[in-house]
Formats: sequence, C-alpha cells, structure tokens
Amino acid sequence: MACKYRYVLGIQSFANQDSGACLVRFSEDGQEVDYVAISEERLIRRKFPYTFPVHSLAYCMERFGLTDLSQIDVLVSDFIRRKQWFRSGPAYNTSDFDYLKIKFDFDPAKIVQISHHMAHAAAAYYASGYESSAILIVDGNGSDLETTSFLVGEGTKISYVDTYRGRGIGAVYSAVTNWILGLGTGGEGKTMGLAPYGESHDKVLEINGVLDGIRNDFSSFMRRMPYSDILNQIDLAHRINPLHKDYPRASGKEQVQEPYFARVAFDVQAETERVMIHLGKELFARTKQPNVCVAGGVGLNSVANKLMFDASGFENIFAFPACSDAGIPFGLALWGYYNAEQFKHLPKRRISFGNAYTGRDYPQGEIDDVLDRNAVPSTRTTPDEVARLLSEGKIVGWFQGGSEYGPRSLGHRSILADSRRAEMRDIVNERVKHRETYRPFAPAVLLEDCAEYFDIDGDSPFMLLVADTKRPDLVPAVTHVDNTARVQTVTAHNNGVFYDLVAAFKRLTGVPVLMNTSFNDAGEPIVETPEDALICFSRTEMDYLVLGDRLIAAGDAVRAIGKTLFDQRAALIVRREAEITARFFPGGDKTERDAYVEAENRQAVWHTLYRAKYELERKVMEWAKERKRVLVVGTLDHTDALLRHIGGLATLTLTGIVAFAETEYPTGDAPALERLTRLDGAAIKAGDYDAILVSSHEFHYEILDLLDNAGLTDRAFSPYDNSSRSLIEAFQCLPSFKI
Ligand SMILES: [Fe+2]
Repeated sequence: MACKYRYVLGIQSFANQDSGACLVRFSEDGQEVDYVAISEERLIRRKFPYTFPVHSLAYCMERFGLTDLSQIDVLVSDFIRRKQWFRSGPAYNTSDFDYLKIKFDFDPAKIVQISHHMAHAAAAYYASGYESSAILIVDGNGSDLETTSFLVGEGTKISYVDTYRGRGIGAVYSAVTNWILGLGTGGEGKTMGLAPYGESHDKVLEINGVLDGIRNDFSSFMRRMPYSDILNQIDLAHRINPLHKDYPRASGKEQVQEPYFARVAFDVQAETERVMIHLGKELFARTKQPNVCVAGGVGLNSVANKLMFDASGFENIFAFPACSDAGIPFGLALWGYYNAEQFKHLPKRRISFGNAYTGRDYPQGEIDDVLDRNAVPSTRTTPDEVARLLSEGKIVGWFQGGSEYGPRSLGHRSILADSRRAEMRDIVNERVKHRETYRPFAPAVLLEDCAEYFDIDGDSPFMLLVADTKRPDLVPAVTHVDNTARVQTVTAHNNGVFYDLVAAFKRLTGVPVLMNTSFNDAGEPIVETPEDALICFSRTEMDYLVLGDRLIAAGDAVRAIGKTLFDQRAALIVRREAEITARFFPGGDKTERDAYVEAENRQAVWHTLYRAKYELERKVMEWAKERKRVLVVGTLDHTDALLRHIGGLATLTLTGIVAFAETEYPTGDAPALERLTRLDGAAIKAGDYDAILVSSHEFHYEILDLLDNAGLTDRAFSPYDNSSRSLIEAFQCLPSFKI
C-alpha cells in the first residue's frame, strides 16, 4: 500500500536578497525523506531579487507533483525583528513581498516561525550527518539583531548556547566591502579574493574588535545602530554611513586593485580570521564537541573557516554550501521536519546531503527536446572526450542533473578548464566570465588525490575550505596569489559523472584536478535550465557546451538562437509569474497593493523616527506624576541630548547620571550597578532611585542586560527597540523630514 506523504515548506518571512524556497517530503512510515530547494534568482534570472519567491514555490511544488497549497502541512519561516508573519518589523521597509504574504492562500494556523540563526543552524547541522555537533553562526544580522550565535545539535534537537546581539564581524565585512571598496551587494567574496594582494602594503584600517566570549564588538570601528531601517532603504538623504572614520572610497573595478584598497581588503580579512579563530576556540571550550558546523554569511569565508578549524580543538568541520541566507529555506523546512508539533508522533530519519544538488533534475529527453526545437547541432559525448578537449585548452560549459544550492558551482552547473595551464585563468576571465582578474578559480580534485595536491586532511565537498597548494607548479590555474586554493573534493558516490570526468582527465594527463567556476556570466545568476545554459553559452566565448551527454560546439548556429531564447525566456518568466500569483495569491490588485505599501511605510517611518520620543515623553509624564527619582544610565552624548530635547526630563528628580564614553561598552564579568559611579563621582545606593532611564542607543541591549544581572529590570526603561533611530538622529532628521 502506498504510504502517505507529508510536506514542509520553508520560506523566509521578509524581503531578502537571497529569497528562495525548500520543500521537504517525507513518508509517514519514516522510510523516505526527500527535498528540493532553489533560490529565486535562478528562476527569475536576476541577482538579489528581494521578491517573494513565487517561482521557487511553484518549482518546489511541481517537483513533488503538488497542485494545491493545502497539500502542504506546515510552513516554517524565520523573522527579522518581531516574531510575526505579517509585519516583519515596525520599521521594516514594506514592499510587494509583504502584500503577497497577505494574499497568500495559505492557512496562517499552519505557519511556524523560528529565529534566523536557528534556521542557519538547522541547515548546517541536519545536512552534516553528525550525531552531535557544536554550531557556529556568524552573519550580518538575524532575528532581533542577533549576529553571532553558538548552538549545539544533539540527535535531532538543536538548542542555543549563547547569542550576541551587536554588530559583529559580519556587519564589519559588509560595511568595508560596500562603503570603502565599493564592491556592492554580495561583494564580500571579491573582498576575500582581493585580500592577499594587500599583504605587502602598510596597514590602513583602524580595526581591532573587542573579543570577549561570544562578543565580537566593533563599536570603535563602526556604529552598531541603527541597523537597516526604512530610511536607509527608501531615502538616500537619510542613509547612514556606519563607519566612524571617513576612509577614502574606491571608485570602480580598477581603483579597488590599487595598493591602498587591496590593503583594506587584507586588513578586514585578517580581522575576520582573528575573530573566527577566537569564536572557534570559545565555542569548543564551551561545548567540548568533536564536531563543528558553520553557517551564516561569514561561513562563506573559506579562508577563515580553515584557520578557525586548525586553531580550535574540533576534529571535524562541516560548512554548509548555502551558508548565506540562500540556505535559509532549506534550514527552515528541515527544522520543521524534525521539530514541528504536527509531526511529533511520526518516525524520522536523518537526511543524506552528500552533494549540494538540491535542484530538480533535467532528464536527457527534456534536454534533447530543447536542442531539437532550436535546431542546435550536437553529438553524443563521453567524459573521455570532454577530458581530451579540456586537456587541449578548451573551455567547456558543463551542465548535469539538478543545480547546486548556494553560490558555488560543484560540477553540475560549471565552467571547466585545464588546471595545468596558468593562462586559463586570464582566458576564462576575459572570454567568459568578464570579471575582475584578481578573483581566483577553484580546483575540483578527486578526493583520493587531494592530500597530494592540497593541505587538506579529509574532504571539502562544498569548496568551503581554503588550503595551501602543495603542487602549484602542476596546477597554476587554480593556485591563488598567496599559494592557496578553494578546494572541492569529488567522489564517485556524491558527484557521479563529474567524478568520471575528473578521473578521465587524470588518466589522460596524470593530474586529477580541473579548474571549476560557476556557470554564469558576470552579474548573472548561475544557470538553471538547459535554455539558460544555451543562452549563456551563446553570449560568451566558451568552446563547448555539454548538456547531459550532448556535446555542442560554439559557432554560428548557437549564436543565432541566443537572442530568441533570451526573449522567449523573459516572456515565459512574466507569464509564469502571472499564472502562479493568480493561483496561489488570489485577489491581488495593483491599486490596493500600492496603497497598502504606502500606508505601512508611513507607519514605519513614524516608528523609526518618532516612536522613541513618544514613548519617552509618556514615561517622563508618568514619572513626574508619581514623583519618581530617576537615575540616567547611558553614553554621555545621548544623555545630554535627551536632557535638552525631551520636555520635562531635566526637571524630574534626577538621582544622577552614570555615563560611558561614546563608544565604550560597560565591561566586567559580573557587572553590577554598585561598581558604577555617578558622573560627579558620588556612589550610588540602591535606595537612591525608583527608576532607571537607559539613554544609550547603541548599547541599550547591553545596559539592559547589565541591569538585569543586577536584578534591576523592574526599574529599567529604554525608549528604544530594535528598529528605532537614536533620538539624536531623530532630532536632526525631524525638521527636514515629512512623513
Ligand atoms: Fe543570515
């Protein structure tokens, strides 16, 4: 008898540059579990979409033959500021994404929300196959400002050990990438590639974070608040440069390679390595686990991963291939499978994740149809033939099976070349990838030969460990300027025909290494469909394209159809979007949508600028009425601004002011208020005050924690939440800003 299937969908609840979807299907008898996951950018052919993943949703449902949303048992989502599905945070920039959530024909009772870092952790841990593991999550910003988290996985349970809610190394790396190097959204990988070129120059970044436990505090280098808010997004005049110092900014691709900027990249990379080593050691000391899983955007820093692993006591490391937020839908859906209340009684099994091929398969018949329909000449080919072409210096586009999850191509959507030919690096950059020359290419190496060529003990199936090259003379095309390589190890079991190809190349040349880069043109997402591959092939100067077992030579026939295929695809995306939204998001209306977005955003601006003032003024009135004695705790500049601008505050009975320097965090292992002294030097006694006003903006969480440790939570009040701008900023903005 056929066993009944259950389905869990993972989708993020807020507009994200890496939106996508994952669907897990499992049988009630516990025998089967399968999944499909895809990033929206691959389907709409636009990087960093920030749109609701409607195409990904349909793609995942089609993979398992689902036609109706009611067939999905649970939707698991994360949250950014507040744990709620419909409004992702009070100062959040509402867009079409949020309107579609309202129209989404899905029972809200079946939606479960977990934290962003829990979703990162679930993706890495459940994919790792470990029975238990420490988990390190480091990214720019998660739920309620979490940026660094320690977790532990045991069996199918994952729990938090500690979390840090201040801007940490992830935000620093992004800020340097964007505000100094000008490498744009998602440019962090470029910064990493540029870093080795800066080593021989003088240090330029004044960056030295305070590392203490899980804390990686960069408040001396950059502002911690506000995080991105609506004003940063919709109103450039009120966009805030988060860096304290005015560093020179690179203008364009050429300038960024100058010694000064290369050194900037080097400095931020060095700091990242220092932080990751510290966090790795700290996590090991606190968990004593032999295994460690890494995820979050900083987990893509393959150089730092390897150094962290080597320096800490862990015996095994697993870095998730879709470390960045692209991997969140997978983590959400897997978390739901193992933890959702609805499935508690059902037997579970561990998933296998030997490769990152989470996309749907494209059978040879489907590929052949595309070729026939477009009259593209092709021949049947073999790994031996392709290996020969590569050995002759040809560039080959290589398309097999389901696409990879995450930013790295791992032998299913790859552009391949001969690793032995140093010139291939420049040739592929110029003829095909149209990208910066300083960016390295990665080697794909047979696992059994890896140790001979690279300083890696064990495997690196997802190209997330960087190691020294032992034989740079043999594989110059994949050796970076600092003699390292971002290695992908390949096995027959996990990589199938891609393994056969690398093995054939070894038989022919004696070298078990191919140069492997993602199958896309500059600025374009990695190709997903056979048509995408043909379009990319027709617009670049690769020599051959392999689609399954078909070999296509570059030439006029392919170039001639490129434009037609491109136009057809653009029309298809529009048509599909209309179909999917009509089916799964009924009743949408453009006028209603625009009105909704405008109203929500007005409210968000109010929240960002005015709410803290409103809350504080109400509190001051209450304190005045009740004749409360108030102690002010916070940084001096903010305290001063509140006293000058908030009516009635200065006339309250103020017990005193406890002030920190502007960028100084209150430190101490067992912080107690008694250790702090008033500005005038007088000691403070608990009986001296009835209420505490936390005036600090950047540090309000830390000070509230400090007061909590001292048992003073009941008396503490902060006008801020995780979405408001500081009142200093608000006082500056208010005169010029119209809601
Ligand atoms: Fe993240």
